[in-house]
Amino acid sequence: MIDAFANALSERATRLRASEIRELLKVLERPGMISFAGGIPDPNLFDREGFAHALAELAGAGNALQYSATEGYGPLRSWIAERMSAQGVTCGPEHILITSGSQQGLDLIGKLLLDPADTLAVARPTYLGALQCFRAYEPTLVEWQGAALPAETKALYLVPDFANPSGETLTLAQREAALDAAQAANAVVLEDAAYVDLRFEGEPLPSLLALDCARHGGIDAARTLYCGTFSKTLAPGLRVGWICAPRLVIDRLVLLKQGVDLHTATLNQMAMHRVALAGFDAQLVRACAVYRERRDAMLTALGGYAPAGMHWTQPEGGLFIWAELPEGCDSKALLASALEANVAFVPGPAFYAQAGNARTLRLSYSLNPPAEIEAGIRTLCSLIASHSRAAA
Ligand SMILES: Cc1ncc(COP(=O)(O)O)c(C=O)c1O
Repeated sequence: MIDAFANALSERATRLRASEIRELLKVLERPGMISFAGGIPDPNLFDREGFAHALAELAGAGNALQYSATEGYGPLRSWIAERMSAQGVTCGPEHILITSGSQQGLDLIGKLLLDPADTLAVARPTYLGALQCFRAYEPTLVEWQGAALPAETKALYLVPDFANPSGETLTLAQREAALDAAQAANAVVLEDAAYVDLRFEGEPLPSLLALDCARHGGIDAARTLYCGTFSKTLAPGLRVGWICAPRLVIDRLVLLKQGVDLHTATLNQMAMHRVALAGFDAQLVRACAVYRERRDAMLTALGGYAPAGMHWTQPEGGLFIWAELPEGCDSKALLASALEANVAFVPGPAFYAQAGNARTLRLSYSLNPPAEIEAGIRTLCSLIASHSRAAA
């Protein structure tokens, strides 16, 4: 770093570190690599024609290329509010702020709530991108494992449905317990619903925000802030997500967002609205059928090839399975051998706010056809068996 910048960096910027696994994962593009590392949707599912048509038409006339309101495109906010209302969160467009992906929603909420040393509770493990974003606000991170929260907790961040990285879903009782714990500590609940629409089976559970609205008689009395996104369902590249929250909180968030990017791209919001209106539910059916088949292929392969002492989650939706290796194994050491054998995954320790479990790893089934999943898991499991024997 040249001297002027070495002196100029904020303390926060000095502390930023690139993840060590990023170096390892640079080989993902190698021919023949079977990667379970990325957590991204399958691009073959994107409604390319629908987007191409909407984008061309919208750019050709009207206001899509102009600046627009920070709150977001009205018809899109109304569409989201109607959907949220149908899911037990009675609300209007005034309760919705469109964000540039839900990642920006998390960041704006971090900015809204967190002063240095404030206590933020997160799950163990939790979404790496949330840890990255919140760490910039210098909170004290604590791990919530279902019991009471420390009295000084300011906020509790959870991914209740098909979480990244665990694939797990909070039961109704766990959701109520989270709200009880937050209420007892007078903390805000931050609900990240990135994967909620990708449910392959079973009945949808009420969101934390829906339960909170039921407890307090409406959204304006709730303590939960909800981050939603079109990234996992329609397309992530347009960067369109939203926050659903009490109106007074939305008003504050609007002021913060103004300082960040004035508004989310007008054209992208309008195109997202068109494509959602034309067939959001049909798109969910298509996506869930594809991901369900891949989830099944991965679970079957794990069931067939995993050595004794290995455990994994059984997600009912989303994109991830979380696994624990047999005693004595280490997922980073396993990754080094797996990459040599052209298989990739993400070791688990990066997903912990505090000391991580070195035996854990995240496997994504979103991008690979079933036969490739079977081949990749077979290779991986045979490597795990040899690591396990070497450790014994
Ligand atoms: C749990 C979770 N939240 C939020 C995001 C951010 O998604 P986006 O900003 O594309 O909406 C992701 C992306 O991987 C995620 O896994």
